[in-house]
This record gives sequence, C-alpha cells and structure tokens, in this order.
Amino acid sequence: MNILILGSGGREHALAWAALQNPKCDRLIVAPGNAGIAEIAEIATLAIEDGEAVASFAAENAVDFVIIGPEAPLAAGVADRLRASGVLVFGPNAAAAMLETSKTFTKEICDAADAPTARWARFDEAQAAHDHVVRTGAPIVVKADGLAAGKGVVVAETIEAAHAAIDDILGGPLGGEGASLVIEEFMRGEEASFFVLVDGTEILPMGTAQDHKRVGDGDTGPNTGGMGAYSPAPVMTEEVSEAALSRIVRPVVEEMARRGTPYSGILYVGLMIEDGAPRLVEFNARFGDPECQVLMMRLGAQALDAMLACAEGRLGQMRIGWADDHALTVVMAAEGYPGPYAKGSPIGGLDGLGGTSSRMVFHAGTAMSEGHVVAAGGRVLSVTARGTDLREARDRAYEMCAAIDWTDGFYRRDIGWRALGH
Ligand code: AMP
Ligand code: GLY
Repeated sequence: MNILILGSGGREHALAWAALQNPKCDRLIVAPGNAGIAEIAEIATLAIEDGEAVASFAAENAVDFVIIGPEAPLAAGVADRLRASGVLVFGPNAAAAMLETSKTFTKEICDAADAPTARWARFDEAQAAHDHVVRTGAPIVVKADGLAAGKGVVVAETIEAAHAAIDDILGGPLGGEGASLVIEEFMRGEEASFFVLVDGTEILPMGTAQDHKRVGDGDTGPNTGGMGAYSPAPVMTEEVSEAALSRIVRPVVEEMARRGTPYSGILYVGLMIEDGAPRLVEFNARFGDPECQVLMMRLGAQALDAMLACAEGRLGQMRIGWADDHALTVVMAAEGYPGPYAKGSPIGGLDGLGGTSSRMVFHAGTAMSEGHVVAAGGRVLSVTARGTDLREARDRAYEMCAAIDWTDGFYRRDIGWRALGH
C-alpha cells in the first residue's frame, strides 16, 4: 500500500522507520519530512494543515493510508477532510482532537465521565482568576485554554507567580478577545504517559513512556518539548495501567462516542500517579515526541498493523506482541534551546551510526546543505537505542551521542535517571 505521513520531526522519522519494516508498505511519502527522513522515504512539499491540499495530493499519488503526526493538522480538520473523500486515516477528526486542543473541553468530558483529574475552574476575566488564587493558595497550576505549543502552562509555586501567570496569559500574545484560562489544583506524584489506540469504541494499549521536559540535568531549567524519553515507564505497573484504562480511558472514549464525536487515533494519556492511583494531567491527540521514538523502536513493523487496525475500526481483533525490552532516546538540541538558537551548523559522525533494529538516530530538525546534514531546528536529533534492560538501552544511546560530531549541540547526560533508580 501507498502511505503518506504528515510531519517533519523525530516522531515522523520514527513512524516512517517502523512503517518501512512492514512488507505492507510499498511506497512511503513523508511531507514535509527532514534530512533523515529523506534517506529512507520520498519527501514531498505540501501544506499539511490544508485539508484540500492534502486530499488532492493523496488522490494524485494513489495514497491508501495517511498517518497524521502533529496536532496542528488534526486541529485544522485534515482528518475530517480525508475521511470525507474515503481515504483511510490515522488521527482523530477536529471535534475529537479537542481532547488536546481545549483544556476546558477535556475537563468537562472528565467530569461527565467521572474520570479522576485535578479540580479546576475556568476564567475569562482576570479579576475573578486573581480572587480564586487568593482563596486556594499555592502551589497551583495556571493554563491557557487552547493550543499553546506547551508554553501555556505555569506550575506556580507561590501566589505571586500565579498572579503573574494570569496576567501573562490574559494580557500576553495568547490573550485578547475570547481568551480564557483554566486554574487547576496542583497534583503531586510521578508523571507518566500511556499511549492507547482508540478506534471509536475499542481500545488497545500501545505502550508507556516517561519523558524529561526540563532542559537541564537533574530536571532543572525551563520546560522544553522533551529532552529524552524511555519506555516502558516503571511506574505504570499492570495495576496502574488497568486503573487508568477503567477509570479514565474507557469512560472518556464512551463519552466521546455518546456525544457523536467518537475518537479515532492514538490517545496520549498524560498521568500523575500518587500511591498507585492515576489521575489525568492532559490528553494529546497524537504521539508524543520523543516518546514516539522509543515506542516505535520497541514495536517495529507491528506498529503499522496496529495503526491500520485502528483506522479500519478493527482494534478488537488486533494483538500486540510485546518483547521484554526497553528503549531510551536522548535528544540532541541546538545550543540556546528552548530559547533562541542558531540554525545551519554542520553535524558529522552520522554515517554508519544506527540504522539497525536496536540503534537509530532519528532526525528531529535537520536539513541538507551543500551535501551536509545541518541543524534546522531546536531539537535536532533523537538518538535512540533498545536493550534487554534500560541500562543497556541507555548505554547504547549515549555511545551513539558520543560519536556524533556537532559542536553547536548539547544533550542531557541523565536521561532515565528516575527509572534507573527505581
Ligand atoms: P500540560 O500541558 O497540561 O500537560 O502541562 C504541562 C506540564 O505541567 C505537565 O506535564 C505537568 O508536569 C505539569 N502539570 C500540568 N497540570 C498539572 C497539575 N494539575 N498538577 C501538577 N502538575 C501539572
Ligand atoms: N514530549 C511531550 C509531547 O510530545 O507533548
């Protein structure tokens, strides 16, 4: 079959890498892709948030299956448009992607489904939000409603920080007419991500992971999109996973179907686990990046079968074969990230590195310039390895990092520390 993947990050490189291992994949196109993806698949220039453009491209290229990587095309209704023209698609319609795009919507669904999550209140007016914070005290969490590319969440340790966050959100670039925010109870515990395929009614767990959001060693410094990840997450024991499925995922999936907006695609369930009890932090309507890289490394070819079964509504018959293995990825980022950084510096040492079923350098933000791979983003490489235990996976990943010659890049030295200490 002919497959089109939308996106250009490490997540899409990993999806492409896994799809290519499956004999069902005859032709693979990735739009817009990056330099690493170009080594394994066809690259196309395409306005991936424009449903008409994607649907025409799919028709012209006899595409049988479209996998949507990032959230922006989902929010823009690209999946709706493809489904309308009969193309098989992996990713929810815009109305179901609201589980990621609107915090208020998600909270209402959780309330209707009686799914455990932080207590919350929504405000579209600053004074009422300030008064609320005075009443509740700190720590407290202030979130912009709507897609904010991970920048709309402030975990305020003090009342002053909470007041500042309210003014920032309602007065800043995300503010203005119609802006609103959600203020949440601060949840204690350990965070983990649970990835569950949903085909409208049936669900199939696809793996667990933990990522490292802070830029610096020891989980210090500003938040990023993720500086590394590993799978499985030790905190996601069978009991915790079962509790998350029965108390959060199934009731929410049923509630979405009941409302006439069934969810189809991967549901990224961000959890906070305290004393064995999971509560929902957030949903995303897509795979995490870099969590996808470790999931794909563990699943290989069967990832495509599972995504196809999901898109075709056959999850009830799908089984995933789990090896007792571990994967870990280290993100190499451009000096300065998540603040301003330079683009264009050359990256050497990549030849012959990875490319096996247990070692792979996924490209997150790279381009080709005069025959060389150069940095073209903040997060640039996602260096990923698999092992029989987490330590082996980590050692292999860091061995590869050491062989990469990129003077303008940096990476955390402690990915996996929490799990290795378990
Ligand atoms: P979100 O974009 O909602 O996932 O929030 C980003 C990060 O903020 C999460 O990964 C958590 O680390 C943290 N966070 C969000 N909401 C809460 C909460 N209610 N309690 C504690 N931490 C939170
Ligand atoms: N790594 C976190 C995310 O993809 O949202």
